[in-house]
Amino acid sequence: MNKFLIVVSSFFLLSSMDCSAAVYKGQKEYVKKCVICHHAGQEFIATKKKREWASLMRNGGEALAQIHIESKNRKAEPSVEYFQSDDFASSAKHLKDFMKEYAQDSGNVPACN
Ligand code: HEC
Repeated sequence: MNKFLIVVSSFFLLSSMDCSAAVYKGQKEYVKKCVICHHAGQEFIATKKKREWASLMRNGGEALAQIHIESKNRKAEPSVEYFQSDDFASSAKHLKDFMKEYAQDSGNVPACN
């Protein structure tokens, strides 16, 4: 096989994975930061519609951060530092892509591991 064929076939392999970089980054962040408390993992994402996730994640995830920061539930306390961090601010965009990709009405099931 010549180099050209190798390049072409790896291109098709990559594009057939249908898993954009932003969605993948969002998934990684979700697994790392959210699953500790939201044990249902990705199933939890499927409890909300795209529109609901989009509004929670608007303005760098403002509403989502607020829920945790202002929660009276002591179980949310350990997440406050994260939701106030630059780490969350810079990941919010990727998290949003991930959530919309696997929302209840997306028709998708998690495929990027
Ligand atoms: C330290 C534990 C903890 C972490 C980490 C955490 N959460 Fe939460 N989360 C909670 C608790 C507790 C509540 C319930 C707050 C309340 O009702 O007052 C909650 C509420 C929510 C809600 C609203 C409740 C609902 O079902 O509509 C969403 C959405 C949510 N979390 C998503 C996330 C996402 C996404 C992440 C990661 C970026 C995350 N959480 C990280 C503990 C956590």
